[in-house]
Amino acid sequence: MKIGIANDHSAVDMKNEVVDYLKSLGHEVVNYGTDSYESCNYPEYGEKLGNAVASGEVDQGIAICGTGAGISLAANKVNGIRAVVCSDPYTARMAKEHNDANIIAFGARVIGIETAKCIVDEWLNAKFEGGRHAARVDMIMDVEKRNHNL
Ligand code: RB5
Repeated sequence: MKIGIANDHSAVDMKNEVVDYLKSLGHEVVNYGTDSYESCNYPEYGEKLGNAVASGEVDQGIAICGTGAGISLAANKVNGIRAVVCSDPYTARMAKEHNDANIIAFGARVIGIETAKCIVDEWLNAKFEGGRHAARVDMIMDVEKRNHNL
């Protein structure tokens, strides 16, 4: 799978470890930065990743900032994005099975790398269940359409 990854300055080390982990699993990874520890603005990276996922440049995305909150909020402003902050593997699995999340986010200041790897595993291995969940995901996307004048 082709996976995009983006982060701010707080998450460079965690990003690098997640990239190595994804590659060890055989995935192709596209890094949208930042690779610098210098303070930067997470919305820029959330938007880059959101655009990459929404356009199909990558299949899915992983967003990391201090908490996962800011970068996921920015990604969610891109049409077609369903980014979910996960601090535990169960939420990560449900985010795919029930919400068809195309981006997961987490916080480099909140969880450790081993939890991050478990989250990535659960989310990548889970399948969207469709059915009643598809109707609800459609409702989410209708909210977007109504409010973005699409
Ligand atoms: C950066 O200090 C921090 O605000 C950012 O990484 C993130 O946690 C925002 O939601």
